[in-house]
Formats: sequence, C-alpha cells, structure tokens
Amino acid sequence: MSGITVDLFSDTVTRPTPAMRRAMADAEVGDEQNREDPTVNRLQAMVAELLGQEAALFLPSGTMCNQVAFAVHCRPGDEVLLHETAHPLLYEAGGPSAMIGAVMRPLPGARGMFTAEQVRQAVRPQVHFMPRTRALSIEQTANIAGGVCWPLAQIEEVCAAGHAAGLACHMDGARLMNAVVASGAPARSFGRLFDSVWLDLTKGLGAPVGAVVAGSKAFIEAAWVFKQRFGGAMRQAGIIAAAGIYALEYHVNRLAEDHERARDLARGLGELSGVAVDAERVDTNIVIFDVRGTGITGEEFARRTERSGVRFSVLGPTLVRAVMHLDVPPDGVERALSAARSALRG
Ligand SMILES: Cc1ncc(COP(=O)(O)O)c(C=O)c1O
Repeated sequence: MSGITVDLFSDTVTRPTPAMRRAMADAEVGDEQNREDPTVNRLQAMVAELLGQEAALFLPSGTMCNQVAFAVHCRPGDEVLLHETAHPLLYEAGGPSAMIGAVMRPLPGARGMFTAEQVRQAVRPQVHFMPRTRALSIEQTANIAGGVCWPLAQIEEVCAAGHAAGLACHMDGARLMNAVVASGAPARSFGRLFDSVWLDLTKGLGAPVGAVVAGSKAFIEAAWVFKQRFGGAMRQAGIIAAAGIYALEYHVNRLAEDHERARDLARGLGELSGVAVDAERVDTNIVIFDVRGTGITGEEFARRTERSGVRFSVLGPTLVRAVMHLDVPPDGVERALSAARSALRG
C-alpha cells in the first residue's frame, strides 16, 4: 500500500525474501495433481512429521484447509462446534454452509477459547429432529481474541471430551507455529491430538501461497477428493511449496522476535492516555487495543496513523489490531508508537 512503511494490518502482508525467492526458482517440480511434484511431496512429508500425523496435503489456502476438513468430517446438516469468533464462522464467506451444508454452532468463551464442559453440554442427543453434532474446531492461536495461545492441557481436555462424544476434532492452525514458539511445546504435541490439523505458510512464516492440512492416511485420501472438487488441485506447485519448506526451515524460530515486539508495542500503547491494552496478555504476535478512552473511533485512529505511514486494522467501533511479522522494519515499534502519539494529538 503506497505511503505505508510500517504495515501492521496483518501478518499476511509479508513478501518472500530474496533467499526464499531463490529457493522457489530452484525448486524441482512435477505434476502435483498426479502426486508427482517432488517438492510438494517433501513439504507434505515435513508437515505430517512435524504435526505427528500419518500424511498431509498441500492446499492453496488455510480457508480451503478448513473447508476440505469439514467436508471430510461432515454430511449436509451436521453440526460443527467452534468459538463464536472463529474464522470459518466470520470470514469464510459462509463456505461451510454453502459448500458442505454444515451448521456452524458458535460457542462463547473468554479469550477465544471454550472448555471441555462446554463441549459435553453442546453435543446434541441423537434424535431425528436435531442436527448431528459431528465435529469441533479449535483455532490456535485465537486470532480475534488477540493471538491467544490455547494451553496444551485445555486442548487435551477439549479433544478428549470431543472424542468421547464421537466428534472429529479439527485444528485451524493458521498461527500454530506462533503457539509452538510461545509455549515451547513441540508442534506434534498439539497436532497428534486432532483428526485434522493444518498450518498456514502465509502468515508469520512469510511464504506467498499455501497451507498444509494433516491427518491419518484415510483422512488425506478423502481430502484429495474434496481438493479436486473445490478446484484446489495444482500442477507445478513445487515453486510455491519450496517457499513453504524454506519458511519452515528458516522462519519458525524468529517468530519469538515478533512476539517480543508485539509485547513492546502493547507496553508502549498502554502508556498512552485513553488507550486500553493489557501487555501481559499478549501471548504471540497480535495486539488488540481499545481507543474508546481517547474520544476517537478506531477508524479515525487508523486513518490518522496512516498519515504517518503506519497501518493498523480496525476490528470494531473502538477496537484496533496490530500484527507483527518479518517485514516490520527494525524501528517499526517506535514508528508505530510515534504515529499513535501523533494520531491522539489530532
Ligand atoms: C485463524 C485463521 N484461520 C484461517 C485463516 C484463513 O487462512 P488463508 O488466508 O490462508 O485462507 C486465517 C486468515 O487470516 C486465520 O486468521
């Protein structure tokens, strides 16, 4: 976006680094739809291993991972339990109902999470006049709650409750690697608990395209059918898969820097009069703050900071979001704070 030099709109705005582009240019390729692209096959094997699953499938986006997984788990009329702020409910253009005929059942809960007890209460009795509760979905990290990292113990309890009730457990791991770095728990300790789990290559990991969903061999075979049906099968996709491999090799550990900078930004914002934010609750790379006390709206705040070249996203009338990523320049936090101070001066 022209004139923007610190873009905190999302971690999706990153551009491939020169080294990542070289890896893409050098990639060995084949026909992905025939499963003959060696680079795609390597990426899939890497992610299956990383997530403690038998197999994996490269897809064009995280949105398609959610759709494909729900399509495998559900028949039309089946119900999926998920948080009321979850991505498939709010930001996937009604895909689960339009493409699969699944009912999305929103659950409330602090910080983008719900509990095992909520799952037990939500599962419907098996009677012919009710939807069949078929799956649950957990978002790691919980985006709209502010990049909240679900504790492993809570995920274990929720998945145990889901499995006991015969549900398929799905993880939307758009930012799973942020949770891995923040918690210190290996990716497979989360991944192995789920019947389907995916991670996005295009968020903090900085690749230009793609996400990878993992599960049992049977799940992945079924997922191939829906990948084809939804138009997600590709040809010489090794060029983009190579960026994903590069990202997994070189861009995971550095996520810790994004988390540190997000906390620095939150601490600085918290010192501004009228801005409410709890820096101690910044788990990963997302900061959500409330400008209500400043007397201006979130839209106005964001419009004014853009005059200083800093872009935030607006989540509600007075709620603003900043997301750290590898393209934020070294002095990005200082510049964002300076833009925020100017915005509040008028
Ligand atoms: C939590 C979450 N799930 C799913 C998605 C969809 O991912 P993609 O943009 O790769 O389709 C996003 C994207 O922002 C997200 O934040």
